[in-house]
Amino acid sequence: MNATSPSIQDLLARRVPGYALEQPFYTSPTIYQLDLEHIFYQEWLYAAPACQLAKAGSYVTIRVGAYEVIIVRGRDGEIRAFHNSCRHRGSMICKARDGQVAKLVCPYHQWTYELDGKLIWANDMGADFDMSKHGLKPVQLRNLEGLIYICIAATPPDFEPFAKVALPYLKVHDLNNAKVAFMATIIEKANWKLVWENNRECYHCSSNHPALCRSFSLDPEVAGVSADGSVSATLQAHFDRCEAAGAPAQFRLAGGGQYRVARMPLQQKAVSYTLDGKAAVRKNLGQVALPEAGSLLMFHYPSAWNHFLPDHSLTFRVVPISATETEVTTIWLVNKDAVEGVDYDLKRLTEVWITTNDEDREIVETNQQGILSPAYVPGPYSPVQESGVTQFVDWYATWIERALAPLKAAAE
Ligand code: FES
Ligand SMILES: [Fe+2]
Repeated sequence: MNATSPSIQDLLARRVPGYALEQPFYTSPTIYQLDLEHIFYQEWLYAAPACQLAKAGSYVTIRVGAYEVIIVRGRDGEIRAFHNSCRHRGSMICKARDGQVAKLVCPYHQWTYELDGKLIWANDMGADFDMSKHGLKPVQLRNLEGLIYICIAATPPDFEPFAKVALPYLKVHDLNNAKVAFMATIIEKANWKLVWENNRECYHCSSNHPALCRSFSLDPEVAGVSADGSVSATLQAHFDRCEAAGAPAQFRLAGGGQYRVARMPLQQKAVSYTLDGKAAVRKNLGQVALPEAGSLLMFHYPSAWNHFLPDHSLTFRVVPISATETEVTTIWLVNKDAVEGVDYDLKRLTEVWITTNDEDREIVETNQQGILSPAYVPGPYSPVQESGVTQFVDWYATWIERALAPLKAAAE
């Protein structure tokens, strides 16, 4: 965008519902910055499964735009988050993406923090120095049944409505008794919204995902959203069967469209994301007794989509890196007592989604390349196949428009 470009408000005002966004939404560093400031720095973001922080001193770090955050389990078992910036001269404290420490020690001058963020050692700072005023700056954190969410904003939005909707669905998956079987991070050279748009439809699946299509249903109702929230009789019958077996399943889209839960059926006879459709893990993670319950699909904009199956669970975390780059981290969770090589084969567990992620990376990057052309004009989404994409783009446009409204009013 330059001085003569339309403003984001102008672009939003002339947006055609049911159509892809105009080029700057996918390419402009200015809009990328607005996305960070008004969405990623304000909303609750999925960061990690709690089981990744197995014991006191286990930590993970996450970069959200300009912010670096440490998430660490304390000696009291509590998981906390802090800005990864030393209170002396600001050095990053933990450089690795994860690890295990006894204390948080700054590599620069060795200021040392307890795992709860308190400063406990700083050499030669003089008699007047008050350690209690130099603890690490906290970041808001919630543990939702074993899923850690953080919020950069000092005054975060209310987490409880989402927690209330998601809790019963998650409870049966027992993520507090999970372990990380595998973790994979890829960089997709595409705007974060293109990564989401691709996730919210399966219009592309039959021609791009031969491995996934052995288990994932191509029924557009599975990825999509009906305008009035209604579902087909077949899908309702599946929900009813799951619920009768004790696994909450009903489709719920809430939070102004920010999150959705629904336990969707897989291809007939498939019970897990494997090439033969059979279970990948012998010891189930959770108590979903119905093998053909399918996959609990839960997305929460802007940072996560997840799949919870009877035998294992998958979390996907989306973090934007620049206007045209996005990091996607996939974590495979299994029962903490499941033994690799005995209860599951790692290749068999992970191969479908490793392949699928790479196929998605390729198509999303190709999408980005085409959008970078000056000849690009937004085209229409399929009303049959891409209702989920329309839902995401409507959510984004409404969210960013609402966030920018006070700025617009102040300028008038
Ligand atoms: S910047 Fe951390 S101890 Fe000096
Ligand atoms: Fe895909």
